[in-house]
Amino acid sequence: MIYARVAGTGSFLPGNPVTNDDLVARGIDTSDEWIAERTGIRARHLAEPDVTASQLAYEASIRAIEAAGCQPADIDLIIVATSTPDYIFPSTAALLQARLGIANGGAAFDLQAVCTGFAYALATAEKFIRSGSNKRALVVGAEVFSRILDWNDRSTCVLFGDGAGAVVLEASDKPGILATALHADGSHNPILCVPGQVNRGSVTGDPFLRMDGQAVFKFAVRVLSDVAREVTAQVGMPIDALDWLIPHQANIRIMQATGKRLGLPMEKVIATVAQHGNTSAASIPLALDHAVRDGRVQRGQRLLLEGVGGGFTWGAVLLEF
Ligand code: ACO
Repeated sequence: MIYARVAGTGSFLPGNPVTNDDLVARGIDTSDEWIAERTGIRARHLAEPDVTASQLAYEASIRAIEAAGCQPADIDLIIVATSTPDYIFPSTAALLQARLGIANGGAAFDLQAVCTGFAYALATAEKFIRSGSNKRALVVGAEVFSRILDWNDRSTCVLFGDGAGAVVLEASDKPGILATALHADGSHNPILCVPGQVNRGSVTGDPFLRMDGQAVFKFAVRVLSDVAREVTAQVGMPIDALDWLIPHQANIRIMQATGKRLGLPMEKVIATVAQHGNTSAASIPLALDHAVRDGRVQRGQRLLLEGVGGGFTWGAVLLEF
């Protein structure tokens, strides 16, 4: 039996933290109290204007490759989950491959499932590895969400940040990813979207993130608890057998409500949203890498990674680390 196993993790946050008070100092009509109470966010990182998603992806990737004890040339598949790519084309994954100095490599492509992107990418890479067609995948979530925020809309701009996280996933006879579940329901697209496009040299529509926060909140809690039950049921694992739940880092209240619905105490939930806000597809691998490096996540533990985001999309990956 071929399993796909996480061999190493890495992450990267650009520049210095920008605190809630820093946003107030920059003229946004908000407060540390309002943001922290409703979301748990204390700070975010914002990339300099010339820093792109592939650069953040590169920084996270070299850390993951080093942790996995391999070389860039050993990577035969790259999937980058992003909604904020460097270009319309080529893909951020192809640009990342070039930055890593991989010549004549395997497939490299981007995957667009917004905040669920990393769960989708990890589940996709798993299928390539389990089929025997690939041996070692680099799976990345990388975002410069600051580029698509309307800084005059205080109800959204305070929630997001920039960053990247990566894992090296390799073929192994030991588990490994145990189960995956991915879903989408495009009919909910209006409650979270960036409804613009580039057309004949200019932007048509609206190039900024728009969100109905309360609708997103309710939807997220429901599907995150449902998909956690679905993926654990696939292998007959009770929820309380999980060592860690590593959810998409959007909002501490979404994580608390999900944990409550699942009967999981917050001591088993990895939450890093306070330090970096919502980094969309980067948030799950960022949280995972932080918890690996601070020693909370240990080899052999059972982890449930899950996300929800624009589309709407949602999904979960259950794995033995
Ligand atoms: N600072 C101060 N006041 C604010 C701010 C702000 N940054 N933003 C909004 N307000 C005000 C509003 O103007 C409103 O004022 P009013 O009552 O005078 O009209 C008041 O605060 C309440 O606004 P609501 O939108 O009702 O605030 P709510 O309690 O719903 O909280 C929030 C908003 C935090 C966005 C909440 O709906 C939420 O957590 N939603 C989940 C959305 C989320 O996390 N999205 C992440 C992206 S989606 C994803 O990743 C899955």
